[in-house]
Amino acid sequence: MTKLKNDRLIRALLRQPVDRTPIWIMRQAGRYLPEYKKTRAQAGSFMDLCRSAELACEVTMQPLRRFDLDAAILFSDILTVPDAMGLGLYFEEGEGPKFERPVRSASEVEKLSVPDPETKLDYVLNAVRTIRRELDGQVPLIGFSGSPWTLATYMVEGGSSKEFSHIKGMLYSEPKTLHQLLKVLADSVAAYLNAQIAAGAQAVMIFDTWGGALTPTAYQEFSLNYMNAIVAQLTREYDGQRIPVTLFTKGGGQWLEHQADSGCDALGLDWTVDINEARRRMGGRVALQGNMDPSVLYGSADQIRMETQRILEGFGPHPGHIFNLGHGIHQGMNPDNVKILVDAVHELSEPLHQDG
Ligand code: CP3
Repeated sequence: MTKLKNDRLIRALLRQPVDRTPIWIMRQAGRYLPEYKKTRAQAGSFMDLCRSAELACEVTMQPLRRFDLDAAILFSDILTVPDAMGLGLYFEEGEGPKFERPVRSASEVEKLSVPDPETKLDYVLNAVRTIRRELDGQVPLIGFSGSPWTLATYMVEGGSSKEFSHIKGMLYSEPKTLHQLLKVLADSVAAYLNAQIAAGAQAVMIFDTWGGALTPTAYQEFSLNYMNAIVAQLTREYDGQRIPVTLFTKGGGQWLEHQADSGCDALGLDWTVDINEARRRMGGRVALQGNMDPSVLYGSADQIRMETQRILEGFGPHPGHIFNLGHGIHQGMNPDNVKILVDAVHELSEPLHQDG
């Protein structure tokens, strides 16, 4: 295996000293980049883009050519897993993801099984291998999946949702059915992430985008329990390298202590959390990733630098910070402002790592 030329991300995830705080950006490949739109048009549809190893690799590399990022993230989507389970994923222009066959009843849940990643998700694994070859050790490659709860929201609602009426209806009227669905998803996600690791993913992240929609008790029972089950099944060392695991529950800042109990290496923070307070609460148990409000990038260069400084100083001169936005970058963002942010993180964090 090629040695990493830039291993800041992996070191920070493992809370080891670094020379500068690493940064990557959620949704760093995407519609805010004109070159992405071009490749997407060439592919035809979003799923065709995901299914082509060559084009998925191309869009993964695009942000790295523009910005001095410390990681690449696999270009794919969390909904490839339910698609592989037979739900028929499609994207309606301007309306987001949809499923042809949502899962609403006990008998529909009964029929689901763990998809074999090597056959049903081979296109993702091919993309991972192609990207690793293209990266040639420049920066590490992050693999990812959705959390069982977040995937279940799309599967039961049939697409995006604001009120989660179907899945919350199931949660309170048929909890056993929901548990059965979450169990098959946890096993599917664990197998899928382990296959990504075997194909070359050097760190993995679980996106729990909708965990914050739950009550504290329901979060523990229906979201965190299943992320715990995944972490317990993951390959933690591959090819002599530790594979760090990050959990990110959007809107989950009040439950960080419980999330850290999962045994993960790092937690993602959205922008509603004070990073200084989060670090004090965690006391170095896990690394922290985040947490600039994506909207700061609408501000002036001075404002972006000021906010960067505030977050870096908030975390302080300790190992274990990965700079990121608190959620995905907006599609209307000016790429020039992303460059200002990435360069500011590197420049302004250097004094914090003098003793490293
Ligand atoms: O971060 C990256 O650059 C890697 C790629 C990535 C995508 N989706 C590409 C994508 C990742 C990590 C995701 C995760 C994802 N997908 C999540 C969890 C993270 C989060 O943002 O909370 C969720 C909830 C999804 C489901 C999903 N896929 C949605 C809601 C959408 C947007 C639909 C729309 O039209 O706005 C997608 C599609 C999608 N996934 C796009 C991209 C770049 C846009 C599709 C396009 O090009 O038209």
